[in-house]
Amino acid sequence: MWNRIRYLAMPVPRYLRDMGYTRGLKRLDARGRRCEVAWAPHVARSRSLILEAADRCGRSGKALVLGSGPLFDVPVKELSERFQEVVLVDLLHLWRARSAVRRYPNVRLECMDVTGVLEDAHALTRIGQALEGTERTPDFFLEDGFDLIVSANILSQLPLAPVRYASRKRNRAEPWRVRAFSRRLAVDHLDWLASFPGHVCLISDLERLFCDGEDVVSRGESLWGIALPEGGREWMWELGPKPEIDPRHDVRHRVVGYVEFPKEVWLEREAGRQPSS
Ligand SMILES: C[S@@+](CC[C@H](N)C(=O)[O-])C[C@H]1O[C@@H](n2cnc3c(N)ncnc32)[C@H](O)[C@@H]1O
Repeated sequence: MWNRIRYLAMPVPRYLRDMGYTRGLKRLDARGRRCEVAWAPHVARSRSLILEAADRCGRSGKALVLGSGPLFDVPVKELSERFQEVVLVDLLHLWRARSAVRRYPNVRLECMDVTGVLEDAHALTRIGQALEGTERTPDFFLEDGFDLIVSANILSQLPLAPVRYASRKRNRAEPWRVRAFSRRLAVDHLDWLASFPGHVCLISDLERLFCDGEDVVSRGESLWGIALPEGGREWMWELGPKPEIDPRHDVRHRVVGYVEFPKEVWLEREAGRQPSS
């Protein structure tokens, strides 16, 4: 295991602060509470998808949730009842998440960077170098016997902060390089998920839509051209009713959820390698 950060009450590592993760997580938590009603259908769909995936596992064993964040979409109580051990992973865990899991002795919070590249990306950016070359396929937890692995709305988020940090530091990179870096981190995450022997449940946004009522004014893909396998269920996440994110538009995410991410299909597809730009 490399580059694994473990801390509980310790100060936040500098690279996470510089890259804006502490602020980002607090903002996410605050937005989730402001938008509780708008988010409710998405939260309910995500939670029930995760529990459906949990039903495919035996009534013991271990569950791993990647990107647990403020726990909006994580049915902590139900997972704690179904599994002997539940590990919730995020870069940081806010006090509210810590306090929410305290009553479940079999639920553990782990602080770590699931890409394993953030610290290197931070160091390269600080010396004015490009982010490329930091990508690598993670191998965390692969041999830890998890029966259920949940990637909880994290896939599209992985490159955002390092890319924003590099841009704030005026590290100029051609858009195709930024896209290739972003895409690589997401592909590495999917390769990692597909390498677990257990059941993999994936929830990710596919597209961001700016809407005027029911009319879509503009849309942008979330996954840099990555085509996910068929078999997911789709729904809309009312991420930011106006003026939450945009003063004139409601912002929605088109989300896909897989009760069982088709690992073989993904790995076979990857053997053919999609173009990276
Ligand atoms: C959209 S949020 C989803 C949060 C959570 N699933 C929920 O609904 O409450 C994405 C989460 O991914 C986490 N994250 C982003 N990059 C990460 C990384 N490299 N390693 C671990 N967690 C990361 C963020 O801190 C954030 O909590």
